[in-house]
Amino acid sequence: MSNITHMNKHNNHPLEILPSQVKIVEVGPRDGLQNEAQFIEAKDKVSLINKLTEAGLSYIESGSFVSPKWVPQMATSTAVFETIKRGANVTYAALTPNMKGFESALAAGVDEVAIFAAASERFSEKNINCSIEQSIQRFIPIMQAAKAHNMKVRGYVSCVLGCPYEGDISAKKVAEVSKALIDMGCYEVSLGDTIGVGTPQRVKQLLAEVSKRVALEQLAVHFHDTYGQALANIYAALQMGVSVIDSSVAGLGGCPYAKGASGNVATEDVVYMLNGLGIEHGINFDALLQAGWFISDTLNKAPTSKVSQAYRHQCDAT
Ligand code: HMG
Ligand code: MG
Repeated sequence: MSNITHMNKHNNHPLEILPSQVKIVEVGPRDGLQNEAQFIEAKDKVSLINKLTEAGLSYIESGSFVSPKWVPQMATSTAVFETIKRGANVTYAALTPNMKGFESALAAGVDEVAIFAAASERFSEKNINCSIEQSIQRFIPIMQAAKAHNMKVRGYVSCVLGCPYEGDISAKKVAEVSKALIDMGCYEVSLGDTIGVGTPQRVKQLLAEVSKRVALEQLAVHFHDTYGQALANIYAALQMGVSVIDSSVAGLGGCPYAKGASGNVATEDVVYMLNGLGIEHGINFDALLQAGWFISDTLNKAPTSKVSQAYRHQCDAT
């Protein structure tokens, strides 16, 4: 992928080099909705996913095949996958923690699955009821089955910049778990700041450490915006050469097993920033805003995205 060099107007020195194009991984229908307390009907999830498709998102994490006792909101994922109107060249993905989930995902027609590990032992226990090592062992048959079905697998590592139960997490541990996921066949690892505690300098240090073991081209960033640092963290990651960004329409989201974790960075905020930087993303901004307003109205709450709020005020005023 080529880069954009931003020049200093006064002395022609390069200010920084950023990717010229990024891929947005839209996680709203999964990470966004999994944490909603109110029941959301499958038809509303389907409408959201269809609107995101129309807005040009090329990768939409549309659900998860996890235990409904653990995350009741995702129990309609089969119905969702069976009903969405698929766009050409759009990947509709889902989380699968074990073989049961993988088999359900396969039956529902999922294009791609994601396995999810953590860099924190206690979070791993709370989220998927096993140690990090046990989770890796549990993923082996998923990787084998995915290979047999020619299906790509994405990996997640949670708590990369802090854990709600253990506090600080070592970057070396993040690098070790990321490398394990790549070694077992994941094409990409998304680094999750599950509780949004990271700041830009720490993001750079983390990426410097992880990229010693996993190529930067195989890393994505997944920032929750609990402390309002997500956009700054994404900018830091872009400066380091990362070009895959996870985000959630309207800023929906959170993890049910990380108390206090708020929504992911809003896709609208990311796209607005990328537009300002001249970085290509392939998304129709107006259609994205509409998708965010649709789900916010359906949930009867305001979007947490500042960009979305600002445009809505402008629309309401005219
Ligand atoms: P467990 O209780 O140890 O599992 O949970 P089990 O194998 O003992 O099964 C217990 C029951 O669940 C059984 O049902 C199974 O059939 C059923 P019963 O016999 O009692 O009626 N079950 C399933 N049902 C449907 N689909 C399945 C499935 N597996 C078991 N796949 C388990 C272990 C992993 C299943 C559970 O802990 C779980 O589902 N956890 C998921 C938690 C989750 O989804 N968290 C949110 C996603 S992670 C996240 O948000 C972070 C991320 O965004 C990145 C970041 O921000 O950092 C990715
Ligand atoms: Mg998340």
